[in-house]
Amino acid sequence: MKLTIFGTGYVGLVTGACLADVGHHVVCVDVDADKIARLNSGEIPIHEPGLEALVERNLSAGALEFTTEVARAVSHADVQFIAVGTPPDENGAADLQYVLAVAESIGSNMTTHKVVVVKSTVPVGTSDVVRAKLTEVLGRQNSALAFDVVSNPEFLKEGAAVNDFLKPDRIIVGAASEHAREVMKELYEPFNRNHDRTLYMDVRSAELTKYAANALLATKISFINEIANFAERLGADVEEVRRGIGADPRIGYHFIYPGLGYGGSCFPKDVQALGRTATEIGYDAPLIAAVDAVNNRQKTTLFDKIATHFGGVEKLKGKRIAIWGLAFKPNTDDMREAPSRVLIEALWEAGASLVAYDPVAMEEARRIYGTREDFVLAADKYAALNDADALAICTEWQQFRAPDFVEMAERMASRLIFDGRNIYAPERLKKEGWSYISIGRAPAYAQPQAVEKVS
Ligand code: UDX
Repeated sequence: MKLTIFGTGYVGLVTGACLADVGHHVVCVDVDADKIARLNSGEIPIHEPGLEALVERNLSAGALEFTTEVARAVSHADVQFIAVGTPPDENGAADLQYVLAVAESIGSNMTTHKVVVVKSTVPVGTSDVVRAKLTEVLGRQNSALAFDVVSNPEFLKEGAAVNDFLKPDRIIVGAASEHAREVMKELYEPFNRNHDRTLYMDVRSAELTKYAANALLATKISFINEIANFAERLGADVEEVRRGIGADPRIGYHFIYPGLGYGGSCFPKDVQALGRTATEIGYDAPLIAAVDAVNNRQKTTLFDKIATHFGGVEKLKGKRIAIWGLAFKPNTDDMREAPSRVLIEALWEAGASLVAYDPVAMEEARRIYGTREDFVLAADKYAALNDADALAICTEWQQFRAPDFVEMAERMASRLIFDGRNIYAPERLKKEGWSYISIGRAPAYAQPQAVEKVS
C-alpha cells in the first residue's frame, strides 16, 4: 500500500519506518527542509533503539522516502497520516495549528478520495475539527471530493517504540465508515497475522482511549508513590507492599514502581490535558487532578530528603552533589518533565554545586542548562563522584544497578546515597557502611508514627 505521513517527529518517524518495513511504500513529509535533508542522508534526529537501522534499510530499498514536497506527498497515497506535534499553547491546551495546517495541505492538494488518519495525540473531538477544516478547504474550491477521518492513536514507549509498533498490544481504529475500516484493516494486516489485535470503534472513543490509557498508567504510578509516602511514615517497606499487591492478577506488577514521579512527553501532558477537557465540559474530575498533584509533589521528594539529611535547605550551600541519571527514564536522552530537573533546579536554588552523569542525556542537559560553573558533566559515572558529599540517583539506568561500591566510597567525601529509583538493597549498603535513603523504605527520618493514636 502507498502511505503518506505528515510530520517526521518521534511518532511520524517511527510510524513511517515501521510501516515501510512491513512492505508499504511510505512517503514522509515535513516542512523542515534541513531535517528532511538529514533524514535522507540517514541521520536520525532522535535516540531510539533500532530506528536508525530500520530507516537506513528502507531508505535504500526505496520503501521509505523523505520529502518537503507537499503536493507530491498528497498525490502519493490514498491514506494520509497526520503525525505532527501538538505542543501546549500559552494556556497549556494542545495547540492544533500544525494539525490543521496539514488538513489544509491535504484539502488543497487532493484530487481523489483520501482517508485522513489522525495519529498525533489530540484532545477528544479533534477529528471532528479536522473534518470541518477539510470540508471548509474543499468547499472553497467547490470540490465535491469525499474523505474519511480516522483516529488511530499511538501507544509507543520511548526507548521501545520500534518494538511497540511492530508488536502492538492493540491497534485502536476509530472510524465512521466501512470503507475507512477496510482501508485500515488492509494497512495493519501485517501486524494481525497471528491474531487480530485491531479494535474498531467510533472516532471519539478512539480519541478518549489514548487519554484513558495514559491517565490510568499515571494513576498507578501516583498511587504507589502515595503508598510509598505512607510506608515511610509508618515504618513499612513499599517494595514489599508492591510485591504483595502485584501478586493479585487484578492489580499486576506493571507500573507500580515507586520513584520520583513520572516524566516524559506523554503522561504529564496527557493527564493535564484530560483535566483541561474536564473543565471545558464542566465536569469535576478530582481523581485526574490528584494524579497530577501527587506526581508534582513526588518530584520534590528527593530534594526534601537531601535537605532534611543535611539539617535544612540552608545547609546545602556549597555542598557538592553527584547526580546519576538525567533522562526521565532509561534508554532515552529525553529530559522533558524529567524528575532530575526538579531536583537539579532546587539544589542550585539552595546553593549546591552539581556533577552529573547520564549515559546518553548529557548533550540534552547541556542544551537545556547551558554551561554553568555549578553544573559539571562528568566523563563517567565514577568521575561524577569525586569529592561528592552525596550521590542522588534519578534514573535507573542498567549501568547504575551494580556499581563498584568500594571505588565509589574511595571517591566520595562521604558514603551517602539518595536513591530515587530504589535500585539497591538497603541491608547490603548498610552492611558496607553507607547511609542509604531511598523511596518508601527504611524509615531513615520519619520514625514510625504513633499509629495506635489513630483509631
Ligand atoms: C508512555 C506510555 O507508556 C506510552 O504507551 C504512551 O504512548 C506514551 O507515554 P513513555 O512516556 O515513553 O510512554 O514512558 P513510560 O515507560 O511509560 O514511563 C513514563 C514515566 O513513568 C517515566 O518517568 C517512568 O520513570 C515512570 N514510571 C513508570 C514510574 O515511575 N513507575 C512505574 O512503575 C513505571
